[in-house]
Amino acid sequence: MVMNPAPNLILVGPMGAGKTSIGKRLAERFGLQFADVDQTVIERCGATIATIFEHVGEAGFREREKAALVQLLDGQGKLVSTGGGAVLDCDNRRLMQRHGFVVYLRVGVDSQLKRLGRDRARPLLQRGDRERVLHDLAVIREPLYAEVADLMLDTDGLSPGAATSTLAHLLSSHWQRGERAA
Ligand code: S3P
Repeated sequence: MVMNPAPNLILVGPMGAGKTSIGKRLAERFGLQFADVDQTVIERCGATIATIFEHVGEAGFREREKAALVQLLDGQGKLVSTGGGAVLDCDNRRLMQRHGFVVYLRVGVDSQLKRLGRDRARPLLQRGDRERVLHDLAVIREPLYAEVADLMLDTDGLSPGAATSTLAHLLSSHWQRGERAA
C-alpha cells in the first residue's frame, strides 16, 4: 500500500456530507487541531455566512473563504473542514493538494435533503426547489471534488460515528503525517 505524506487532513464535499461532524471526531482520533473554514470566515468578518452573502454576494464570500483557507493551511497538524464550494477555485484546489491529504465525503441528494432539513443558515438553499439546486451544484462540483481528493468515502446511510471509524481505518493505511513531496 502506498502511503501518501501530507501535514494536514482536509475534508471536501457538498453541504450535508458531514464534514463538520465527522471532522471533529476524526480530529480527536488523530490528535489534530480541528478548524472549519466557514467558522473562520464568520470570526474574521464578525458576521454570519447569510449576512456576508447579503452584503457582498457569493463572489465576496468566495474571496473571504479563500483568505481563510490560506490562513488555516499555513501550518501543520490540522484537520481543515471546508465549505461545499471551496473547490470551485483552482488556486484553492492547488493549495489543498499542496498542504494536505484531501478526503472527499460524498453524499447523494436524497440524503442531503434529509440531513439539511429546514436549514436556514445556507444562503444557496434558501430558494424554491432544493432538490434541483443540490442536483445542479453536484453536476458542477463532483468532478472537482474527485480531482482534488486523495481518498473518497460515500457517507450515504452512514452515521457520523460509523463514517469516522471507516475513515480512520482507511487513513491509517493511506495517509502518513509529513511534508508533501515537491
Ligand atoms: C456552501 C457551503 C457552505 C458554506 C456556504 C456555501 C456551498 O458550507 O460555505 O453556505 O457553496 O456549497 P457547508 O458545505 O459546510 O454547508
